[in-house]
Amino acid sequence: MIVGPPGSGKGTQADLISRELGIPHISTGNIFREAIHKDSELGATARDFVEKGELVPDHIVTALVLERIKEDDCRKGFILDGYPRNLDQALDSDRNLEISDGPLDLVLNMVVERGELVRRLTGRRVCRKCGAVYHIVFKPALVAGRCDLCGGKLYQRSDDHRETVSKRLDVFEEQTGPVIEYYRRRGLVRDIDGSCSRDEVFQRIRKVLNNLDDYL
Ligand code: AP5
Ligand code: MG
Repeated sequence: MIVGPPGSGKGTQADLISRELGIPHISTGNIFREAIHKDSELGATARDFVEKGELVPDHIVTALVLERIKEDDCRKGFILDGYPRNLDQALDSDRNLEISDGPLDLVLNMVVERGELVRRLTGRRVCRKCGAVYHIVFKPALVAGRCDLCGGKLYQRSDDHRETVSKRLDVFEEQTGPVIEYYRRRGLVRDIDGSCSRDEVFQRIRKVLNNLDDYL
């Protein structure tokens, strides 16, 4: 599991981990954004919550995650990004993980200070076609507005405007902070300083993953 405030690099690092370990990256935020873009029933329900920076109701998110982790590609394991996000979801997720795939191995807690989070979020751009993530300053595309990987058009997430960013950071502190403490008491949390470059952060995560067997 990877947790941390909006903009702390969960998606960026989860993609790298997914490639390194050959396990799927499950991002509830990505699932909602895709559903909203396709205008599906799930998208219609989630749209208002996501655009306001509020949490989508627990029963919807939990059902969705439970469905996803039953799929074949999750048999060897998976990395959850963006779930659980409050204590009720954490309790649900404990029950679900127990049923489907054994216990949770590790919680990576990405730590980055608020000013940096705002800079990262307001400058983020995402590829409409393949979902690759860019930043206008920290990771600009080679051709402005176009994805380096697939040529798709880059867009700004509707929840990345300054007012919504601030709301999302508050929601994180109030609702997700207690989730981290809940897992910390169980000895599962490893804090990762997420404030340096993408590659340096990944090296830190790699060290933790390499030592995973020592404390499982
Ligand atoms: P979600 O998509 O999960 O958003 P989030 O938690 O707010 O996190 P972000 O995706 O914004 O940030 P990130 O940590 O992934 O950072 P990234 O790697 O992109 O959720 C969105 C919404 O969906 C929620 O608000 C809610 O409405 C709903 N939702 C989702 N899950 C839910 C749940 N469980 N329950 C209820 N509702 C739910 O990086 C950010 C930027 O920084 C990028 O531009 C990147 O290029 C740059 N960057 C990354 N690393 C670095 C670095 N080391 N140095 C410099 N720049 C960097
Ligand atoms: Mg993300």
